[in-house]
Amino acid sequence: IKVAVVFGGRSAEHEVSLQSAQNVINSLDPEKFEPVLIGIDREGRWFLNEQSIQLLNADNPSDIALNLSAPQVGLIPNGPERRLVRIDSQESLGQVDVIFPVLHGPYGEDGSIQGLAKMANLPCVGADVTASALGMDKDIMKRLLRDAGILNAEFITLYHWQSEWPLEQIETEFGYPVFIKPANMGSSVGVSRAKNREQLNQAIRHAFKYDQKVLVEKAVKGRELEISLLGNDEIMASCVGEIIAADQFYSYESKYIDADAAELKIPAEISAQQTARIQQTAIEVYRLLGCSGLARVDMFLTPEDEIFINEINTLPGFTNISMYPKLWEHSGIPQQQLVTRLIELALE
Ligand code: DAL
Ligand code: MG
Repeated sequence: IKVAVVFGGRSAEHEVSLQSAQNVINSLDPEKFEPVLIGIDREGRWFLNEQSIQLLNADNPSDIALNLSAPQVGLIPNGPERRLVRIDSQESLGQVDVIFPVLHGPYGEDGSIQGLAKMANLPCVGADVTASALGMDKDIMKRLLRDAGILNAEFITLYHWQSEWPLEQIETEFGYPVFIKPANMGSSVGVSRAKNREQLNQAIRHAFKYDQKVLVEKAVKGRELEISLLGNDEIMASCVGEIIAADQFYSYESKYIDADAAELKIPAEISAQQTARIQQTAIEVYRLLGCSGLARVDMFLTPEDEIFINEINTLPGFTNISMYPKLWEHSGIPQQQLVTRLIELALE
């Protein structure tokens, strides 16, 4: 089975994607799968195999990309043939059987590559177009959760076209601190915690660098927990993991740069009853958004023993220190088996 592993990409989570991809590629069972590596640089150019490996291993991927005189690769929607072609010459690069998008954030986790794969008649690992888009947009996701009666932090959405932000309303309704997030982003990129009006103003401006829509959320006090899900119609839930962040919150820095800044505790020290409730709620969220393949659901467990859903990630981090694969390892599914299962689910 030929698996097109797509990585890099145009989002601010480019580097995270490279780390995730290395790990996924290393976990592909060589007896079952033949990888076709497709690296996308920050400008959106697609590179194939040897050249994509340069992108994968680069310290500074943008420098490498600029030096490549690479053939650009594209997916051509051409019925049942599932052809990968060179865009420059239209030379066929052969058939692939499934796409494994190891892309995080916009241009990958948001339904865009899922749509491209769908047009090209190619099965794709993970959520479909709609579920990907819903999971990526925290504003829409939270409205769906709210509508279904699933607890999540109160929020106000700000739009780029607004000439004034409702700062007083935010202060009266939420107090401080509040969290400010671009609606469509991951890995805490563009996220801040504000303790006063000045920080709030600054944080909103910062978040708008990444998106045209920004969320201001009331802070939820509680333990930060995560759970991994796997499956299409039959959904398996892993054990629960806990993030113990040394920082004020689980920032990009503490996720990928300073490994000591956050501790992952697997499994979390919670009761069997709490675990069961979390598993049930996470599956409810997965079904609500119409996910398939995989997702990681992030939440807070409050001192009142309530579960507040923070968000769902339809292409969660897959680096060798990431929670998604680690939770499965602890739940009895080693990485190679996990990657095999994800591809099988896409081909179902
Ligand atoms: N967005 C990052 C990769 C995560 O959810 O793990
Ligand atoms: Mg996320």
